[in-house]
Amino acid sequence: MSTPGDYDAVRTDIKAIIPNSNWDDGSLGPLFVRLAWHASGTFDKYSCTGGSGGATMRFSIEANDPANAGLEHARAFLEPIKQKHPWISYADLWTLSGVVSVEHMGGPVVPWKPGRKDVVDEKKVPPNGRLPDASQGEQHIRHVFNRMGFDDRQIVALIGAHSLGRCHGDRSGYEGPWTITPIRFTNLFFIHLLKEDWTEKIVNNQVQYKDGRDRLMMLPTDLALRNDEKFKEIVEIYAKNKGEFFNDFAEAFGKLLELGVDRSDDLLN
Ligand code: HEM
Repeated sequence: MSTPGDYDAVRTDIKAIIPNSNWDDGSLGPLFVRLAWHASGTFDKYSCTGGSGGATMRFSIEANDPANAGLEHARAFLEPIKQKHPWISYADLWTLSGVVSVEHMGGPVVPWKPGRKDVVDEKKVPPNGRLPDASQGEQHIRHVFNRMGFDDRQIVALIGAHSLGRCHGDRSGYEGPWTITPIRFTNLFFIHLLKEDWTEKIVNNQVQYKDGRDRLMMLPTDLALRNDEKFKEIVEIYAKNKGEFFNDFAEAFGKLLELGVDRSDDLLN
């Protein structure tokens, strides 16, 4: 066991398991970023419920939310690290895995603070259905992200994480990667979104979009960032200026991971 509070030792162990030649494109990084985001994205600012504090995805209601399909693998990969450093909360471990992964894949340093506690009361688990639905448009995106406390610029920055990873038919039903470099953190999502000629393609009975050569994909919610004039202005900034995207992403992702975090002792009671 490591010294309680030695988060650097945990970071080192997370870094060590990220490269994985048996997984997708050779990295667990995108999966961990998605875990950190889904653990946090249930936050509702009106009722102050949900969010990353609590690690409520340990409970079956949230684990079985269809939006979280596939994240059982992420949690299982992190379990040996939890066993080795039993003093860290799952809530801290899951969010930290996202932060370490972004950095590991060449992205910005994301501010992260420990101190999340794991809830023991199942009543604290947020209801299913708070995470975004990829088949929807700009109204739905704003509804979901405003509820978490994000504005247009932060929304676009956060969804830029789709430079990473891919969709899996057996999880969301959608298929394919957004870029040809799915394990590098880049601004290519925005560049492709603007430059490619996206046309509809039906996969597993769902509408998604393909580029001219049918190598890359976009979700309906991704395309909404190009169709909505206000979102599009921000997409154009991030497509041109990688540094600005990296800065804004780091700030917004850091904020996301703080949602619903209560560092007082109330949560355990
Ligand atoms: C409108 C908002 C969003 C929608 C509808 C959405 C939807 C999806 C869907 C359907 C997948 C594919 C899951 C699978 O089949 O494995 C996915 C993957 C992913 N999403 Fe999002 N997402 C959104 C926002 C975000 C945000 C804010 C982040 C992070 C900051 C993020 C990070 C990722 C990553 C890294 C993957 C790849 C996972 C992997 O390769 O296993 N997404 N998203």
